[in-house]
Amino acid sequence: MSLKLLTIFFFLNLLFQSQETSSQSTNFTYNGFAPLPADISLQGITTVTRNGLLLLTNFTVQKTGHAFLTKPIRFKDSPNGSAFSFSTTFVFAIHSQIPILSGHGIAFTIAPQPSLPDATASQYIGLFNISNNGNDTNHVFAVELDTIRSTEFNDTDDNHVGIDINSLKSEKAAHAGWWDERGEFKNLSLISRKPMQVWVDYDGLSHKIDVTMAPFNENKPRKVLVSAVKDLSTVLLQDMYVGFSSATGSVLSEHYILGWSLGVNTNAPSLSLSRLPKLPRFVPRTISDFFKIGMPLISLFLIFCVIFLVCFIVRRRKKFAEEHEEWEKEFGKNRFRFKDLYYATKGFKEKDLLGSGGFGSVYKGVMPGTKLEIAVKKVSHESKQGMKQFVAEIVSIGRMSHRNLVPLLGYCRRKGELLLVYDFMPNGSLDRYLYNKPEVTLNWKQRINVIVGVASGLFYLHEEWEQVVIHRDVKASNVLLDGELNGRLGDFGLARLYDHGSDPQTTHVVGTLGYLAPEHTRTGRATTATDVFAFGAFLLEVGCGRRPIEVQHETDETFVLVDWVFGLWNKGNILDAVDPNMGSEYDQKEVEMVLKLGLLCSHPDPRARPSMRQVLQYLRGDAKLPDISPLDLSGSGMMLGVQDGFSELGMSYSSSVFKGFTGGSSIADSLLSGGR
Ligand SMILES: Nc1ncnc2c1ncn2[C@@H]1O[C@H](COP(=O)(O)OP(=O)(O)O)[C@@H](O)[C@H]1O
Ligand SMILES: *[C@@H]1O[C@H](CO)[C@@H](O)[C@H](O)[C@H]1NC(C)=O
Ligand SMILES: *[C@@H]1O[C@H](CO)[C@@H](O)[C@H](O)[C@H]1NC(C)=O
Ligand SMILES: *[C@@H]1O[C@H](CO)[C@@H](O)[C@H](O)[C@H]1NC(C)=O
Ligand SMILES: *[C@@H]1O[C@H](CO)[C@@H](O)[C@H](O)[C@H]1NC(C)=O
Ligand SMILES: *[C@@H]1O[C@H](CO)[C@@H](O)[C@H](O)[C@H]1NC(C)=O
Ligand SMILES: *[C@@H]1O[C@H](CO)[C@@H](O)[C@H](O)[C@H]1NC(C)=O
Ligand SMILES: *[C@@H]1O[C@H](CO)[C@@H](O)[C@H](O)[C@H]1NC(C)=O
Repeated sequence: MSLKLLTIFFFLNLLFQSQETSSQSTNFTYNGFAPLPADISLQGITTVTRNGLLLLTNFTVQKTGHAFLTKPIRFKDSPNGSAFSFSTTFVFAIHSQIPILSGHGIAFTIAPQPSLPDATASQYIGLFNISNNGNDTNHVFAVELDTIRSTEFNDTDDNHVGIDINSLKSEKAAHAGWWDERGEFKNLSLISRKPMQVWVDYDGLSHKIDVTMAPFNENKPRKVLVSAVKDLSTVLLQDMYVGFSSATGSVLSEHYILGWSLGVNTNAPSLSLSRLPKLPRFVPRTISDFFKIGMPLISLFLIFCVIFLVCFIVRRRKKFAEEHEEWEKEFGKNRFRFKDLYYATKGFKEKDLLGSGGFGSVYKGVMPGTKLEIAVKKVSHESKQGMKQFVAEIVSIGRMSHRNLVPLLGYCRRKGELLLVYDFMPNGSLDRYLYNKPEVTLNWKQRINVIVGVASGLFYLHEEWEQVVIHRDVKASNVLLDGELNGRLGDFGLARLYDHGSDPQTTHVVGTLGYLAPEHTRTGRATTATDVFAFGAFLLEVGCGRRPIEVQHETDETFVLVDWVFGLWNKGNILDAVDPNMGSEYDQKEVEMVLKLGLLCSHPDPRARPSMRQVLQYLRGDAKLPDISPLDLSGSGMMLGVQDGFSELGMSYSSSVFKGFTGGSSIADSLLSGGR
C-alpha cells in the first residue's frame, strides 16, 4: 500500500514536473542591443551605443547603471513553490581609463523590481546599500564580476567572480579564470578590456549554482569556476526581473555587455558571437584625449608655425636678396654673400659707420667665420649699364696686391646696391690728420712716408700692373693708413663706375673739385696725367695741411691752395706754406722739393707734368727735381692765366679749375656748398 502510494506520488510528481517544464519554459536572446529593445529599461548612467553595445557605465565616477527587462520572468509556479532551473550567458568587457585599475564591477541580477533605485555605487555595485546589504528581505540573486577588493565583504582579491545572495558577501567566490580542455586553470583579468563570456546555471533539483567563464570565442569550459549549493526557492519570488547592475567608484571605467541570453527551465540559447557588436578600439585615455583635443590644437599651432615660418623666410629672402647674373659666374669666388656682410656689420648699424663719402657709406665689420676685420662700402647704383665691365675691373683689382693699396677682398650685388669689401684700415683716412686743427697729426717723417707710399701705389697702378689703371680720385681722404701708418690708396676704379659713356659732351666727370685736372673737366677723359694732377694737389695738401679749395665763409672768398703756394713761392718764401702743426723738425730741402713737385704736378698742361715714375724718382732722391723757378712755370706759356687773359698767376689756376666745367654757375654753387 505504501509502495502503491509512493508510485502514485512519483507519477504525479513526474506529471507535475513535466507539466511545469512544458508550460513554464521561457527564453530570450540579445545578440547586441541595437536598436534598444522595447522591453529593456535603462537606468542611471546606462546607455546603448550606436552599434548596440550595452554600456552600463560610462566614464563617470560614483554612479550606478542598470538595465532590466521590463517583463517579469516566472521563476516559480507558486509563491511557495520551488525555484525553476534557469541558465543565462552573457559577454562582457570592462575598459578602464587607467589600464591597471578599474572599478567597481558588473553583476548579473535577479531582483523583485525592474530597478534598484536605492542601491549605491562603488563597492555596492548598484545592488544594495549600507542598510539593506545582507537583509533576506532583499530577494536579490546576483553573480558579481568584482574588480575591487572590498575587505568588509570578505573579498579575496580585486579580480573575482562571486555568487551573491541578498548580500555582497559572496556565498562563494573565485579568482577570475577558466579551465581549459586539458584541465589547466588559466587566469583571466576582468579589466583586460577583452570581451569574455560568463555562464550561470541553476539546477532547481540539486540547487546547484554554477558559474563558468571563458575568453571570448572559447567553448563553455566543462569545469566550472565557482559553484555553490543553495536553494533559491526562498530567494526568488514567483515573478522576478532579470538584468544587469553596475557601478563606478573613483576610477573612470566603462562596463560593457555585448550580448545576453537566458532560459528558464531550458538552456540559455547560445549567443551568435560573430553577430555581437564590436567593442570600440580601446586607446589609453591620454592618447585618445591627445587625438581628440590635442590634435586640433597641435594642427592649429602647426599651421601658425608654418605661416610664421613662411613669412619669416619670405622676409629673410627679401632682406638678404641679391642680384646674380650669368656673367658673374666667373667672379664667384670674389663674391660675398649679403647675409654674411649683414651679420659682419651687425646689420649696417649707424654705430659701425666709418664714414660717408661721395660714393656711399662705409661700415666696419668683422667676418663671422674668420674674424677678419673688414670695411664694407655700400654704393647705391641703379643702372646695370657698365656693371659687368666694372665688376670685371673690381675683380682684377682684387688680384692686385701692393703694400700701398687697400686690399679689395670682393664684392656683392643687390638691387640698386653694390657692396665692396675691403680690408679694414685701423688708422682711418689721412684727411683726419691734416685739416681743422686735428688732435693727432703726423710729423714730416710720417708724412713723407705716406707720400712715397701713395706715389708708389699710384705708380703701380699706372705702370706696374698688367694694364694701365687710372685711379681717378686721388685725394687725402682716399688715402688710408694701415696699422704701421703706411699710406694706402683706396677707392680706385670706383669713379669709373660713374664715368662710362664715350661722348665727351655727355660725360659726367667724376672726381673731386680741386683735384680735377683742367683738361679732364674739358674733355671728360681721365688719363694718368689727370691722376698726376690730383697727386700734385695731394702733395700740397699733405705739406700745407689745407684743403685744395677752401671757402672762407665770412668773406665768401675762395681760397685756392695751388695759387697760394705758387704765390708764396713767387715771393721766395715757399716754406711759409708748410703746415704749422707739423712742428719744426723737418728737412727744409725735402719739404721744399715736395711742395715744388706738387706745383709741377699741378701744371695745367698735362704734358708738363711728370709721370709717376719720375715723381717716385724725385721723391726717393733717385733723380733731382729739375731746378725750376716760378718764372719757368709761368713763362713757359703753359699757364692758363695767359690763355685766359688773366695777368695774375694765382687766378690762372683757379680759373683753370672753373673753366673746365660746362655751366660755370652750377659749379660755383657746388663749390660753395662744398660738394663735388
Ligand atoms: N678700408 C677702410 N678701412 C677703414 N676705414 C675706411 C676704409 N674705407 C673707408 N674708410 C672710412 O670711411 C670714410 C668714407 O670713405 P669713402 O667713402 O671712401 O670716402 P670718400 O668717398 O670721401 O673718399 C673714410 O673717410 C674712412 O674714414
Ligand atoms: C526559445 O523559445 C522559442 C519560442 O519562443 C522556442 O522556439 C525555442 O525552441 C526556445 N529555445 C530553447 C533553447 O528553449
Ligand atoms: C554618461 O552617461 C550619462 C547618461 O547618458 C550622460 O549624462 C553623461 O554625460 C555621460 N558621461 C560621459 C563622460 O560620457
Ligand atoms: C505559503 O507558506 C506560508 C508560510 O511559509 C503559508 O503561510 C502560506 O499559506 C503558504 N501558501 C500557500 C499557497 O501554500
Ligand atoms: C537602502 O535601500 C532600501 C530599499 O531597498 C531603502 O528603503 C533604504 O532607505 C536605503 N537606505 C539607504 C541608506 O539608502
Ligand atoms: C531587513 O529589512 C526589513 C525591511 O526593510 C526590516 O524591517 C528589517 O529590520 C531588516 N533586517 C535587518 C537585520 O536589518
Ligand atoms: C570573513 O572572513 C573572516 C576571516 O577571513 C571570517 O572569520 C568570517 O567568518 C568571514 N565572514 C563571512 C561572512 O564569510
Ligand atoms: C592567477 O592569479 C593568482 C592571483 O593573482 C595567482 O596567485 C596565480 O599564480 C595566477 N595563476 C596563473 C596561472 O597565472
